[in-house]
Amino acid sequence: MKTPITEMLGIELPIFAFSHCRDVVVEVSKAGGMGVLGASGFSPERLEEELRWIDAHVDGKPYGVDLLIPNTYEKRAVGKLDLDVLIPRETREFLANKCAEANIPPLPESEAAELLKTQLDKIQMTPEEATGLLDVALRYPIKLLVNALGTPPRETVAMLQAKGIRVASLVGKADHALAQVDAGVDFIVAQGGEAGGHTGSISSMVLWPQVIDAVAPMPVLAAGGIGRGKQMAAAMAMGAAGVWCGSIWLGTSQSDVTPKLKERLFAAKAEDAIQSRAMTGKPCRMLRSEFSDMWLAPGAPATLPMPLQTIATAEMRMRIERAGAKDYMSYPVGQIVGDMKHESSVRQVVMAMLEEFVDAASSLSALVSEA
Ligand SMILES: Cc1cc2nc3c(=O)[nH]c(=O)nc-3n(C[C@H](O)[C@H](O)[C@H](O)COP(=O)(O)O)c2cc1C
Repeated sequence: MKTPITEMLGIELPIFAFSHCRDVVVEVSKAGGMGVLGASGFSPERLEEELRWIDAHVDGKPYGVDLLIPNTYEKRAVGKLDLDVLIPRETREFLANKCAEANIPPLPESEAAELLKTQLDKIQMTPEEATGLLDVALRYPIKLLVNALGTPPRETVAMLQAKGIRVASLVGKADHALAQVDAGVDFIVAQGGEAGGHTGSISSMVLWPQVIDAVAPMPVLAAGGIGRGKQMAAAMAMGAAGVWCGSIWLGTSQSDVTPKLKERLFAAKAEDAIQSRAMTGKPCRMLRSEFSDMWLAPGAPATLPMPLQTIATAEMRMRIERAGAKDYMSYPVGQIVGDMKHESSVRQVVMAMLEEFVDAASSLSALVSEA
């Protein structure tokens, strides 16, 4: 398939995978699309390790990295925040009581401090910390850098482009897309509100054509609610130059989400992918669970702003995972979770998507030729 974006990046298929899992990244790139490693939660050491592995296994195919390109993100390092003051006692007591009520055991004493430190280290907060990740990424032959949040500085975009790296940004509104065009990015990822992870409220059907028209002739990838060929055909019928998918890869055999969580994902319906501030303090579409529900119960404290909610809940979320407390498990996922019913490989997902895309595209063109 040829679109402005396959031409720009030298790939065979306009199918992009956002994934935190290196195996998914490699498999999508090897299948002809492009795998993009979600790295904003990684330490520089972890990113180095993952990129070294990807580079050794991807058979020279192009791949990318998704980061928070440093701009005006929270200016203080986590270690310098006075967490005892910023996380109210009420919130701490609420979390402790919920764990006790649900019989979720504490972390083993010998490991607790180290585990928590690892969690907190994942929260990249200062521009300096985010720059550390960018420096690591630049040591590898990445072809694409995607910016997850906000508008990247023009100089950073230009510096990346001078190294032959294409730059893209995720947006959930047409006017945000225009700010990205001003910053000089190469293309836009328009992410509708049904997507997994941090999302806005405008659904894909409304957002995609708005963004496509607003930034034309700059190419746009459609994201949010795409896991099969009919959805891909709809996006491309509206003028998208390809698709950017996140949730669908969580259910693949290459995904590293735990088997218990996969079971929960396969059992979920579309309406179980709710928008909640429970995990990060910002609206994030994720699997509904006892953990998300508890913040909505009468008497529950308000969620805290980002990144304090992530920090405050880190211990409880680790306890849930360790204990395998299935009813409390949650994870960012989009509404297509309702269509994800069993495990298949990344390659099977890509092949099925293409097959259904071809059928849907043929039906559409038959309509026109008969008219
Ligand atoms: C588990 C998960 C984590 C995500 N984390 C990020 C992130 O860190 N940065 C980012 O740019 N997008 C993130 N996203 C959003 C994806 O990049 C993508 O836009 C979205 O998954 C597309 O919609 P879909 O979930 O319906 O496929 C995440 C999505 C999921 C499912």
